[in-house]
Amino acid sequence: MEIKKQTGLRGTLTVPGDKSISHRAVMFGALAKGTTKISHFLEGADCLSTISCFRKMGIEIEHTKEGILVRGKGLHGLISPTETLDVGNSGTTTRLISGILAGQDFSSRLDGDDSIRTRPMNRIITPLTLMGADITSQKGNGCAPLMIHGKNLHAIHYDSPVASAQVKSCVLLAGMYGDGITSVTEPFLSRNHTEIMLNYFGAEITSENTTASIKPEPVLEAREITVPGDISSAAYFIAAGLLTPDSEILLKNVGINPTRAGILKICRAMGADLTLLNEKHDGEPTADLLIRTSSLKGTVIEGADIPTLIDEIPMLAVMAAFAEGTTVIRDAQELKVKESDRIAVMVDNLKRMGADIEGTDDGMIIHGGKPLHGAVIDSHLDHRIAMSFAVAGTICEGTMDIRGGECVNISYPDFYKDLYSFV
Ligand code: S3P
Repeated sequence: MEIKKQTGLRGTLTVPGDKSISHRAVMFGALAKGTTKISHFLEGADCLSTISCFRKMGIEIEHTKEGILVRGKGLHGLISPTETLDVGNSGTTTRLISGILAGQDFSSRLDGDDSIRTRPMNRIITPLTLMGADITSQKGNGCAPLMIHGKNLHAIHYDSPVASAQVKSCVLLAGMYGDGITSVTEPFLSRNHTEIMLNYFGAEITSENTTASIKPEPVLEAREITVPGDISSAAYFIAAGLLTPDSEILLKNVGINPTRAGILKICRAMGADLTLLNEKHDGEPTADLLIRTSSLKGTVIEGADIPTLIDEIPMLAVMAAFAEGTTVIRDAQELKVKESDRIAVMVDNLKRMGADIEGTDDGMIIHGGKPLHGAVIDSHLDHRIAMSFAVAGTICEGTMDIRGGECVNISYPDFYKDLYSFV
């Protein structure tokens, strides 16, 4: 995929639906009674993996002009799959569905692509086993393929060592099949889409500080869901709008849930001209984002902010390389276990562009403002790496050649079309 420099981005864009929310809408719709309608669903490969898994467990899911229809069968309505559930590249599918499968009265096997087979699953195997689940990594390496034999589950309180919405959601979903109230405490609050959406479907979930608790055996009722624009997808256009000279772009109806919107805070700390318009606070909060070209300066990104922008760090690292001064990213060791090792991959690829960057155990240090040029970039088939460097390629001199650039289909199939939609 070859990317060339652009100038003067002007126009309006609606980014695709939020990936995390799209996954959850299908999963909870499948476990609810009646037909759930999902509009602005993300038709990316990851969410399609979730759909395919639930179809294999007897759930009818239809793509219509108005959105996706999920014909739910209730908490105990799934049927035993006759083949392996293919989770593709999707960590969210794997970890959330495992919580559901642990409490079924059948056995299932989960497997996915080469990347998913390296992602750590002990983080869910440990709490699920404490709940009485029978879940094993078939190769004994703590990764997929996973074999799950459904069991009667016990309620637990779990102190999660990581601030991970996937771990939290896995335990809460298993808690629906437990014998009492299940709760999870995390070191920092991670995205709370599961809590918000399960409440909307009728579950009793309470949240206090960094602890979420769920009552077992909720009766979930079908709902209509409009998925907000994905702030993780908006991030690429926020960066492009800020860094491309003479730009003014409006991103419509983007999700700004505070557990996800850390990028907005950091952009402001970097000196961004970014305005929220048309804010709505009904369920998942949304706003239109107005972005104008800005001179950016370095900042520090750390602590409780990290889970609120974890998927945006590749883009923020590119922004930091174009900004004046030093940016320090710390407490972000989770980056090493994403779709690729995002610390190593960002450092390697930004160096190829001429950036002054150094990797650390839990983040990176970037001395911005060095002249950057196009390079051959290895995406490691990680969609967020490919998109971050595509944006970099529209700003720097020379041509950017992104190897494996088609992997953007995981979360943003029309990304390159949208990137060139402003000219
Ligand atoms: C997600 C949670 C995050 C994020 C991932 C989606 C989710 O992962 O990186 O892209 O939908 O719950 P962790 O919860 O493992 O940090």
